[in-house]
Amino acid sequence: MSIRFPQGFVWGAATAAYQIEGAVTEDGRGPSIWDEFCRHPGAVGRGDNGDIACDHYHRWPSDLDLLEELGVGAYRFSVAWSRIFPEGTGRVNPAGLDFYERLVDSLLERGITPMVTLYHWDLPQALQETGGWADRATAEKFADYSARVATRLGDRVESWITLNEPYCSAFVGYVEGRHAPGIVDEATAVQVLHHLLLGHGLATSAIRATGVPGKVGVTLNLTSPHPASSAPEDLAAYRRLDLYENRMFLDPVLGRGYPADAEEFYRGITDFGFVQPGDLDVIAAPMDFLGVNYYERHLVEADPANPRGWRRLPDPNPTISGIGVHPEGLGEVLDRVSEYTDLPLMITETGIALHDYVDPERRIHDQERIDFYDGHVRAAADAIARGVNLVGFFPWSFMDNFEWAWGYGHRFGLYYVDYATQERIPKDSASWYARVTRANGLE
Ligand code: NOJ
Repeated sequence: MSIRFPQGFVWGAATAAYQIEGAVTEDGRGPSIWDEFCRHPGAVGRGDNGDIACDHYHRWPSDLDLLEELGVGAYRFSVAWSRIFPEGTGRVNPAGLDFYERLVDSLLERGITPMVTLYHWDLPQALQETGGWADRATAEKFADYSARVATRLGDRVESWITLNEPYCSAFVGYVEGRHAPGIVDEATAVQVLHHLLLGHGLATSAIRATGVPGKVGVTLNLTSPHPASSAPEDLAAYRRLDLYENRMFLDPVLGRGYPADAEEFYRGITDFGFVQPGDLDVIAAPMDFLGVNYYERHLVEADPANPRGWRRLPDPNPTISGIGVHPEGLGEVLDRVSEYTDLPLMITETGIALHDYVDPERRIHDQERIDFYDGHVRAAADAIARGVNLVGFFPWSFMDNFEWAWGYGHRFGLYYVDYATQERIPKDSASWYARVTRANGLE
């Protein structure tokens, strides 16, 4: 069945600086926490790092040609804070601003709308050394940096995303320790989360104060958890997991403050003493849209052996990332968020990692990825039909890239990257998506 999206619906593609740029010491870029983290033995799969990545820093003009080929209306990329402020604050590096200016201008020449993420996990290492996000001052420095970028590019950038997935920065970085800075300390993690959200609020206001016309929002990774049964223990486990994965983020940015059950959840870990009067108003700064990254729907059961009290049930058909494929979860997340807010929603990421195989004709038949996107595009269309204010869809990712702790082994791209030669090869999913963007839906 063919499906047509509303006129003006934005079909995009997404990347992030550390995952694609490489050139980590070029033109005055300072080191970030990911440069540092990758050097810890065992931190990243196969010892990979972002030193070269997709070499996008040098290859961006031809990469933008590929975006044109895809027919996207918008491109979501991130600015590396340490290219603009090599030490995170203080001295500006003009070459960093020049790089992103060239990128933005070139996108506009091609009729592609730039959507800029200001923080996609690569905190300047110099700021980590003064406490990182555990230090309240980092939130203010983030607002200064954001305003600096907005002042330079704001007449040409249509949308700003302050943070990408603060859940990962706080909880994967400070509870699991699988992401930079690789710390395991739950009390600090909650403080980090608060300062990230504070940074989001301060940056939102700072961007607006520059007078630029662009829209401002934040991108949250939201999950669709379900209790494994209707037993009271499973329901309680579900509520705790949902607090941890979703409500700790959604509630404060949408003006509800931290959820009432957060205090009990964190009892004995933190008393939220770092929340100062007025912080929650800052965090609730009005936004123009909400970015949603959707990857996970899972069943949750009670697990008394886990101090958190929950266990996510393993998916019967996991992908190589260990998660299942559940397009219906996207609809569930969108419905849920629509109960919170009337803001326009944008799917700023969804995607699947596969072991893509290049055949002797140099083709990549990634039918599984096409099926994945087909399902998620249909779920998006169904959500719109139910009245959800969904305005855009950005596959993750435009091209294969450095997949954080997994290194280069996990390929999410519509374009295959041969890292030995830096050749880009369109996968079958790229051709499929180019038809979607041109048809404004499924034929
Ligand atoms: C979320 C992150 O924003 C992105 O950087 C990452 O590569 C994808 N998910 C896939 O895991």
